[in-house]
Amino acid sequence: MADYIYTMEIRLTPDQMKGVNLVQEIARTAEVTLYLTGGAIRDIISGFTIRDLDFTVQGNPLKLQKEFERAGAQIAGRDEDARALFLVLPGNVRAEISMARTETYEKVGRPPLIAPASIQEDLRRRDFTINAMALSLNEGSRGLLLDPFNGVADIEAKLIRILHNYSFAEDPSRLIRATRFAARFHWPLEERTQQRYNSAKENNYIEHIARGAIGHEIAQLAHEDDPLNVVRALEREDWLKVLHPHWSSAKVDANGLALLMKTRQQMVDLGYTVDPSAAVMHFLTARLSDKDISDLRRQIPRKDLVEAWRDIEDHAKDLAKRLTGKEAATPSRTWNLLSSARPEMILFLAVTARQQAVAQKIKNFLTKWRQIQQRIPLPEMTELLITPQLPVYPKVAHDVFMLLLDGKLRSRTETLKFLKPFAPPPPPPPPPPRRGRAAKAAAAGLQPGGVAESTAKGKRGNKGKSEVPAAPPATAQAPASPGTKAKPAAANPEPKAKTVAKAAKPRSKPAPPHKSASKSKPVGKPSKKATKKKANSRKR
Ligand code: CTP
Repeated sequence: MADYIYTMEIRLTPDQMKGVNLVQEIARTAEVTLYLTGGAIRDIISGFTIRDLDFTVQGNPLKLQKEFERAGAQIAGRDEDARALFLVLPGNVRAEISMARTETYEKVGRPPLIAPASIQEDLRRRDFTINAMALSLNEGSRGLLLDPFNGVADIEAKLIRILHNYSFAEDPSRLIRATRFAARFHWPLEERTQQRYNSAKENNYIEHIARGAIGHEIAQLAHEDDPLNVVRALEREDWLKVLHPHWSSAKVDANGLALLMKTRQQMVDLGYTVDPSAAVMHFLTARLSDKDISDLRRQIPRKDLVEAWRDIEDHAKDLAKRLTGKEAATPSRTWNLLSSARPEMILFLAVTARQQAVAQKIKNFLTKWRQIQQRIPLPEMTELLITPQLPVYPKVAHDVFMLLLDGKLRSRTETLKFLKPFAPPPPPPPPPPRRGRAAKAAAAGLQPGGVAESTAKGKRGNKGKSEVPAAPPATAQAPASPGTKAKPAAANPEPKAKTVAKAAKPRSKPAPPHKSASKSKPVGKPSKKATKKKANSRKR
């Protein structure tokens, strides 16, 4: 039997997994039954990108809003009819928590009657078999997959199949969804589904699409990995004009969009978590009028997307302005400025910047300056015992990188000269092993005439231990790049911040980084006191 919890754990990002745990905890405390449902399950099983988390609870999730807010989630919208909460969980994880419900369609074109239901009933009201599965997140049944329509088999067969013959008549937005999923996954509609689709299209069922469904489908485009491909598919099927009568693929800035997706991939490869949805909407609607764009925005239920899309140009302008000012006068300052900027803004500006200086700085930030990181002499830092275990390590690694960026450390020698004062004193030698009389006698008995030899061996051993510094506890790491800061270990005392800050400027006679280091001699040269002690121990 497949272990879906394991599959979920390895397929979700760490932030998404934290989101699952958080929702699970809130549901457990509120004593409501919780399932991971819909697209999230489909994507976990099929291996496609998991773009958001859909949860279903047997109960009313609107009552849990306060708990979610307390746990650090942002409320991006509410659907009072379907009793659904749209959330942004910590770590920028998009999620939707809906009430398990039945939808009864009394007449084509009329909104359904909604009633609370069990999860089994809820799965029956869904669009396609691949979306009609639920994974239990409840004690006692955690990991159990409910798959009443054989969705796993359809994922394996790569088929999009409706649950029953009235599916498109009941909810015509499923025509748009079928086209969108077919374009995204490159999967065909199952034969009977295709027939129902054709007949629904001929009979113009789409005229009865719910207004709320239009807004939902507009927003879904923002999260596609290849949005232009989906927009073109919708256009071919005549669905794009359902989303907005003036929308067409000619209104898309295709070059901008292609560059956006390429730069986004580049940033992902560098380790950034970047949400391109607002920028995608910007390029998808680049040639629509302001009024048309306002119409589109008004229909989108998730206000976080609407706001991010509305503000993206202004925020990019602000960042561009800062990048041409004093704050970005040197490469190191620019690095710090861009490191603290939102990745979404860097992405958007990388594609839209008109000023050459701004474009160049972002380009350097994403490419050239990363190579300078390679010049941080990590092996030598390890030799000097400047390793991530030192509380001062993140700052030293950062400072050395900043100086390299600004061309202030022009050679390896200069870099090492800067680093040496931060080397901690070598660890004290371990005490010599204690040997009782009995042990000595036994050793002498075992090796007759070998006393001198065994003593000499012992001495050699001790000598070795006291003169060779202990191996460093771990390999040094380069300073964290995209916004992540290495966390110092707690064990070592932190040297005074002032001393470290001073040391950022290379000096001919660098100040020792902390008190204990100032008392000790440089690495490798034992102090007079230590030499005397060693001599005494030899005599003994
Ligand atoms: N759903 C449905 N009919 C609709 C819209 C949604 O049955 N008209 C159900 C499906 O089970 C779907 C789930 O609600 O999987 C969540 O909807 P949505 O987020 O729109 O779709 P996802 O399947 O999650 O797709 P995506 O990957 O695009 O987010």
